[in-house]
Amino acid sequence: MTADTIVHLDPPYPVRLRSTFPEVWDALREDHPDRRLFVVADRKVLHHQPQALVGLTVAERKAVVEIDGGERIKNLRHLDALVGRALQARVDRRSLVVALGGGTVGDLVGYFAASYMRGVDWCPVATTVISLADSAVGGKTGVNGHGLKNLIGAFHQPVGVYGALEALDTLGRRHRSGGLAEVVKCAVIADAELFEMLEERAELLLPGAGELWGEVLMRAVKVKRDVVQEDPLEQGRREILNFGHTLGHALEATVRPRLHHGEAVALGMIGALRISQQRGLAPAGTTTRVVDLLGRLGLPRAIPSLDPETALVTVGYDKKVWDRKVRMVLTEGIGSATVGHTIEWSELSQALQSLRS
Ligand SMILES: NC(=O)c1ccc[n+]([C@@H]2O[C@H](COP(=O)([O-])OP(=O)(O)OC[C@H]3O[C@@H](n4cnc5c(N)ncnc54)[C@H](O)[C@@H]3O)[C@@H](O)[C@H]2O)c1
Repeated sequence: MTADTIVHLDPPYPVRLRSTFPEVWDALREDHPDRRLFVVADRKVLHHQPQALVGLTVAERKAVVEIDGGERIKNLRHLDALVGRALQARVDRRSLVVALGGGTVGDLVGYFAASYMRGVDWCPVATTVISLADSAVGGKTGVNGHGLKNLIGAFHQPVGVYGALEALDTLGRRHRSGGLAEVVKCAVIADAELFEMLEERAELLLPGAGELWGEVLMRAVKVKRDVVQEDPLEQGRREILNFGHTLGHALEATVRPRLHHGEAVALGMIGALRISQQRGLAPAGTTTRVVDLLGRLGLPRAIPSLDPETALVTVGYDKKVWDRKVRMVLTEGIGSATVGHTIEWSELSQALQSLRS
């Protein structure tokens, strides 16, 4: 498949979805002829997808830096290690840094690119549902610190975003489902038709990686593109993309055994939906509809091991908390979201309690 769209920022950049990796490298080369590539790749992707580097020259393949994917690489220690590898490889300001992997590799490598030599160009080659549908577009980069998600980071837009659908063939079922949580988020906040499409075909999505995936991912990308174009630095409207993330980040940081990012976002959305409905913003039945869909997509609808008290304390450290006031994105019904709602601690506590069963 070939699906392209443009993110109209200054400068604009393309998002290019292809069926296979060689097609991705061809597209990247066409966009950036003569650039020296510094490719940082998720080791697991290279293991499961030996064809992932087909399309690079022999010398480029030899120079690929392999790192482990996963949340544990999003820290300053791994950033520093990457700086060392870049110096060894003589990466300079004309080089193009490529992040081949999921959202964690993209966030770390993107932040590396934002800070190395005060900023070098970068582009993600996304290999997971979360990265294809969400994290690769929009230029948010960063690492975790002091137990908090994405505490240290920068906005650094990529010069292009690329993805090969074949990557999804080897992605574990839990990661596929987790990624679909971000797709559902896009549907709830801005695309009621996408929500209906997901309701109609939920079960078809989990096993395969065909045209339907391409269609669904591109629609999610377009939601993100439209929002990011309007508000690249998250000074207003872009906050709607954080729907489900205020509670989600607290759950991701505190629930053990650990939740995947998308699973935490799914639960966070349920909490935000309940608050929206209790406030009379969203019509009756909205939460039930979303909860049903999340369940059909293999996502958790409750988390009995959740400790609401600990999670509530963590919410207090969220980036959206100003003057000890928690601001959250709420929905007015499928396909619409509004920002800047001040939420009482009692409402948060109740929402967290409700997520236990
Ligand atoms: N920057 C943003 O705007 C943004 C948006 C949403 C999420 N995020 C971040 O994204 C991260 C989650 O992303 P993710 O779910 O892609 O996580 P991930 O990068 O950890 O990938 C999930 C797992 O799948 C493996 N993997 C990756 N591609 C694979 C493939 N094709 N086949 C087999 N295994 C593969 C990885 O090694 C890892 O173990 C979180 O840290 C979250 O904060 C960032």
